[in-house]
This record gives sequence, C-alpha cells and structure tokens, in this order.
Amino acid sequence: MKVAIIGGTGFVGTHLCDRLIQEGHRPRLLVRPGSESKVARPADCDIVRGDVTDRAALEQCLEGSDAVIYLIGILREFPARGITFDGLQRAGVEDTIAVAQSKGVERFILMSANGVKPDGTAYQRSKFQAEAALKASGLRWTIFRPSVIFGDPQGRMEFCSQLKKDIIDSPIPAPLFFAGLLPMDAGAFQLAPVHIRDVAAAFTLALTETRTESQTYSLCGPQRLSWKAILTTIAAASGKTKRMLPAPAILIRATAGLLDRYPWFPISRDQIQMLMEGNVCDENDSFARLGLTPTAFGVDQLGYLNR
Ligand SMILES: NC(=O)c1ccc[n+]([C@@H]2O[C@H](COP(=O)([O-])OP(=O)(O)OC[C@H]3O[C@@H](n4cnc5c(N)ncnc54)[C@H](OP(=O)(O)O)[C@@H]3O)[C@@H](O)[C@H]2O)c1
Repeated sequence: MKVAIIGGTGFVGTHLCDRLIQEGHRPRLLVRPGSESKVARPADCDIVRGDVTDRAALEQCLEGSDAVIYLIGILREFPARGITFDGLQRAGVEDTIAVAQSKGVERFILMSANGVKPDGTAYQRSKFQAEAALKASGLRWTIFRPSVIFGDPQGRMEFCSQLKKDIIDSPIPAPLFFAGLLPMDAGAFQLAPVHIRDVAAAFTLALTETRTESQTYSLCGPQRLSWKAILTTIAAASGKTKRMLPAPAILIRATAGLLDRYPWFPISRDQIQMLMEGNVCDENDSFARLGLTPTAFGVDQLGYLNR
C-alpha cells in the first residue's frame, strides 16, 4: 500500500516506516524543510517537503495514497513560535481529514495518547478533539492511544533516554513526586511502558485488517510499574544506582509554571500533572484484540541506553 505519513521523521515515525517497508508498503512522508536528513531510508520512501499547515504539500502527500497515518504530536507548546497543541494536534488532524476526504483517501489511522479527555490538559484536550473529528469524518478510522513508548530512539529522544539524560545522569537526586504535603506515596504513581516495536506492529496490522476499523485501542505494556521502579530500572540499565528523594509536586509545578515557557526547563506544568495522573490502561486487552503479544519493560530491553 502507499501510506501517507504526517509526522514520520520522529521516534515513532522512523520505527513505523521501517516496519511498513519490511512488510512491502511504501511510505510517503510529509517532511519539514530542514528535516530531510531524518528520513532513515529515503530510497524506500516518497518525500513531500512541507509543513502540516501547507495545504498544497498535504494534498501532494495524500494524492494517490491508499491510507494516511497522522503522527504529529508535541509535549510542550511554545505559542510565541506558533507551536501549539491546538494547531498541531487538533487543527493539523482536521486539515488532514479534509484533504483525505477531498482526495478520496478513505483509510485514516490516528496517533492519540492514553488518558486523553475533553477536560484535561491542553495536550489531552487537543488529542481528544482530533479523535472526535475523525470519528465524525465518515472516513474508515482507527485510533491508537499508547502509554509512554520505549525502545531504541535511533538518534532521537524517547521516554527512557530522556529520563536517563535529565534525571539519572544528573548529580541531583531523582525526584519521587508526590501530591499533597505528606510523602507517603512518593513515586508510587504508575505507568505502563509499551515497546515501540509493538506500537509499530499495531499500526501496520491496522492498515490491512478491516476488523480494526471504527476501533480505539489503548496500547499499554504488560506491566503496571511505579515511577520509582521505572527510574530504578533505567538506572540499573545505565550501570548506576541512583539516590532518590521525595519531591512535592506542588512546588515543582509552581516552578514549572514560571519557567516552562523556556525550552531549557526540562518539564512543563502540564507534563507533571499528566505524569502524576498515572498512565496505565483501564482495559488492557488491546494487544489481545489485535492478536499481538506486548514486550515486557526491563533492563534487557534497555541496552540502547548505553550506546
Ligand atoms: N513517544 C511517546 O512516548 C508517545 C506516547 C504516546 C503518544 N505519542 C504520540 O505519538 C506521536 C509521535 O510521537 P514521537 O515520540 O514520534 O514524537 P517526535 O519524535 O517528536 O516526532 C514528531 C513528528 O512530528 C513532526 N512535526 C512536528 N511539528 C510539525 C509541523 N509543524 N509540520 C510537520 N511535521 C511536524 C516532527 O517533524 P520534525 O522531524 O521535522 O521535527 C516529527 O516527524 C505524537 O502524536 C505523540 O503525541 C508518543
């Protein structure tokens, strides 16, 4: 199949392109000017240069495609530079839907995220609104909502390499965030890291299996792990033991509220909120429904942290 990919030069997109090519598909990537060198296998892809706000480039990318996959997402917005959740995670999806409709590309697969909701953070709201627009579009849709994704970043940033860089390699003790005033549950909130290989497999399978149409799949790894356990595993995989200290989220959020407009500040106020909400799936049967077996999170899977 010819598969238009919007946001295919990032961590997820690179793994997904590899998988699609392996299975005989041909990705057609919308690539921002300056990001051409991020396309790992240019000989096996078609490349259309342009930003997601460039209607002509979007039309060229979708022209003649059998399906479209929308992957663009950001973790922090910088409105002064035109980088917003609403623009890239809602409006970008709606524009791509409109182009898909006009070009007769009926199959649309959307990358959303676990925990999206209408009244959440701007990240969660924009992705929820994009889901709603796709469901109302009349296109043949599938939505994926992963928890945090881990796996070899191939030169990009991913969940574990980011935590290693910002927390494990830092001389400051690792923060075990806790809500309220008492550190009883410091670092106890849970996440369900899902391997990038399993995410790429799910997207690829959805392209050819009509039973995945009109379905939303939350993609969580097989374990629910506390923040503390995840940091301990990342430290062990990096050959380190890490001192950890309870950190009141209220203080960190207040600091982030002042400083998260600056890219050098490592985390935003909303990111802390979403982290502490936890990121596990209410119903963890998606991989079984897809006929796939998700990979467990552990030191054995994190060899890439030492490269
Ligand atoms: N990684 C995770 O743990 C995780 C978990 C849940 C959901 N997700 C979702 O998965 C998706 C992919 O995440 P990722 O980790 O692969 O992110 P990423 O590595 O940051 O990649 C983001 C992609 O979006 C592209 N992009 C950003 N702004 C654009 C614009 N204005 N026009 C065109 N393209 C633009 C980037 O292009 P450039 O290469 O030019 O920058 C890149 O291809 C996102 O929607 C994210 O919310 C990720």
